Amino acid sequence: MYWEQKSTEIIKGEVLTALAHNRNYRSSAVLGLPASYLDPEVFPPDAAFLEDAPFAKVFMENPNHIGCHTLVGGESAFGGTHALERDLIRICAEEMMDAPAAGYDGYVASGGTEANIQAMWIFRNMFMEQYGIGSQHIGILYSSDSHYSFYKAGNLLQIKTFEIEVAEESRQMSVDVYAAAIRKAQAAGVRCLIGVFNMGTTMFGSVDDISSLLPVLKASGMPYKVHVDGAFGGFVYPFSNKEHALTFNNPEVSSMTIDAHKMLQAPYGTGIFMARKGLMEFTHTVEASYVLGGDSTLSGSRSGANLVAAWMILNTHGSEGWRTKIAGLLALTDELCGILDQMGIAYYRNPEMNLVTMRANQIPAALAEKYLLVPDSHGENAHWYKIVVMDHVKPAILRSFIEDLQAACAPMA
Ligand SMILES: Cc1ncc(COP(=O)(O)O)c(C=O)c1O
Repeated sequence: MYWEQKSTEIIKGEVLTALAHNRNYRSSAVLGLPASYLDPEVFPPDAAFLEDAPFAKVFMENPNHIGCHTLVGGESAFGGTHALERDLIRICAEEMMDAPAAGYDGYVASGGTEANIQAMWIFRNMFMEQYGIGSQHIGILYSSDSHYSFYKAGNLLQIKTFEIEVAEESRQMSVDVYAAAIRKAQAAGVRCLIGVFNMGTTMFGSVDDISSLLPVLKASGMPYKVHVDGAFGGFVYPFSNKEHALTFNNPEVSSMTIDAHKMLQAPYGTGIFMARKGLMEFTHTVEASYVLGGDSTLSGSRSGANLVAAWMILNTHGSEGWRTKIAGLLALTDELCGILDQMGIAYYRNPEMNLVTMRANQIPAALAEKYLLVPDSHGENAHWYKIVVMDHVKPAILRSFIEDLQAACAPMA
């Protein structure tokens, strides 16, 4: 895995050059697009800071990235920033997730939810077309710790969903429970399966053991496809764990979600969807005839600014800089866990992730509120509270939390 670290000046130059290759609403004749730059009353284009703020400048110029630009050229008016999107997808797919050069498609979706639904949509259409079956014969298998976007996908696409219980301590699906879920799906008339595997679940940061479960999926004898949800862990796990089977390096993995608006600290609206070549075509909407190059994405119109932010962040750090940043967050997470161990506070943590999920019965509600710990369920039903160690979670804040927790635990000791 390698991409270069670039200076601020170089990044600025490349973004502005890309923007200069777009059709400019101000300086050229654009009559047919139902779009324009941002309202100049609210966003004055001559604000002095814009010259040094390439992201804000792209945001103001408002390029539309409708369509999938690894697949087809797309609307030529925004070719400059389309090229940056292709480069962003290249870094994520080839450098981070081991995809073969030009062996993938991808686009910047509104978020992890859309990217996950895009994957389910592709596989549903593929199975329906290849096997001539109705959507009710397709099932998604995922752990009970998976994100709720898979329930949305099942509902929207009218495919069956099978939630598989995880073990309380390890947060893993066992081979037996997985096999039982497949039998249940078969009994419910499912003939094709979509296996979802998490690279960092929302509440626990747990990583599904794909190596032990794939053989079970294979043994079912049913056609299947595999999607990896790395919405949370995608910018962490590949940097902390070199030996895993959750990337395109594994020939069984067909698609992936990673979110730049979580760990990468890009603005909301920067989910990244990637799939092996030959899959996006299954969601090609032929009726999108007014869009040059057509549309195979769920989104329709989407901003060209968000991807520029993600591209700038990745190039500002370079792969080694990002690895160092993640190592720092993990070291801080280690420290937190060490203190929790000393205090006898029960928690779950994947050692290669920056998320610590503590048993709620050992955390006073007032502390959870003070430090905005996120529960697994709001109200009286919280069983767990999580801490996500990110950029803003400084050692001093963690120290303060620990001191408060020690003070709260003292009378009980
Ligand atoms: C593992 C996982 N998948 C998907 C999502 C959905 O992402 P978004 O909120 O960007 O739609 C999340 C959000 O927390 C997540 O943690």
